[in-house]
Amino acid sequence: MTPAALSRLRLTDFRNFDTLDLDVDARPVCLAGPNGSGKTNILEAISLLAPGRGLRGAESDEPLRRAGDEIAPAWAVYAEVPDETEDVSSLASGLLEGDRRQTRMNGKPASRAELAALLPMIVLLPEHDRLFAGPRADRLKFFDRLVAAAEPSHGDALNAYEKLRSRRQRLLDKGRADPAWLDALETDLAGHGVALAAGRLTALSRLQAAIDAADDGIFPKADLALNGTIEAALAGGAELRAAEDQLALAFASGRDHDAAAGRTLTAGPHRSDLTARHREKDQDAGRCSTGEQKALIIRLVLAQARSLADRGQRMPLLLLDEACAHLDERRREGLAEAILALGAQAWLTGVEAGLFTAFGDRAQQFAVDQGRVSD
Ligand SMILES: Nc1ncnc2c1ncn2[C@@H]1O[C@H](COP(=O)(O)OP(=O)(O)OP(=O)(O)O)[C@@H](O)[C@H]1O
Ligand SMILES: [Mg+2]
Repeated sequence: MTPAALSRLRLTDFRNFDTLDLDVDARPVCLAGPNGSGKTNILEAISLLAPGRGLRGAESDEPLRRAGDEIAPAWAVYAEVPDETEDVSSLASGLLEGDRRQTRMNGKPASRAELAALLPMIVLLPEHDRLFAGPRADRLKFFDRLVAAAEPSHGDALNAYEKLRSRRQRLLDKGRADPAWLDALETDLAGHGVALAAGRLTALSRLQAAIDAADDGIFPKADLALNGTIEAALAGGAELRAAEDQLALAFASGRDHDAAAGRTLTAGPHRSDLTARHREKDQDAGRCSTGEQKALIIRLVLAQARSLADRGQRMPLLLLDEACAHLDERRREGLAEAILALGAQAWLTGVEAGLFTAFGDRAQQFAVDQGRVSD
């Protein structure tokens, strides 16, 4: 199957771009330019073609263009994407006037599964540099996104779980919820929660296997683990049904506690964590140096891409914002070789073209300056 790739990207009134019309081939795309030139905006635009809020977490009805006081009434991202048979599909995402954001495939609304099949993508941002040392919730979100890129139903389970969890919390906050109503809600919540935990466990073991199989010798390997009550129960051999009962019971007995706290303290899968140890150094990833942590997370992203393609899915598009920052020359070369070996269309950004010399003409090099892109 051919790797996911854009052949054309067009932006209209998107952040600092009036217009952009870029034709690209399947090779990686390197975007070099000064701070504030629009590099991350280009990656954000592409990320809005996938389900969700894009890499900046934009609200679905947010105008994405402001020039002084003026707000452009509509913005749009349009891309052409060859499918496995080289037929070109169009993807368009935009804010229709007075409406919410919509992503369409060949002119029709597209489901999460359709988008993920045509254009799966994995995003790595500068803030992920400190992922293992940072807040637990950010780490979990990163991991869930990684899983959802491989398995769109994971994104659905996550959405359903979070929606029901906030509904339950609102009812508890009001203080006079009908217990029978809560019972039913918590049964549903537990169902989605167990699906979520089970999806994470499967993805984790595949990801770990792909990390273990990597042999470039450049990026360090991490031993990953999921810490969570439900994940532990499932890993210990609990049946799905028994885990659902266990979780529903935990929610029922946690009502008073959660109501008093004003948040869901009950140990559901929203409170799980992903931990990582640097294998060679036998050290907690959070204690590793900035460059070492970056190298660990790059290994993780490359392994996830590999594992997807090895299971017959499309090689995902890689959106790598500032991936070369903090990497020494040997690792920058290693990253270029690893991306080329995957055959992925990676979109890389950096403040200098020199960061991408290892690619040579095996990648497309562009300069970005004040909302304009040139060869
Ligand atoms: N809603 C918006 N409307 C118009 N311009 C915006 C909007 N949001 C951000 N910008 C501007 O777009 C410009 C480019 O931002 P971007 O984050 O893409 O820069 P960058 O090239 O990635 O820079 P850096 O190297 O610092 O990461 C910035 O000047 C930013 O202020
Ligand atoms: Mg940037």
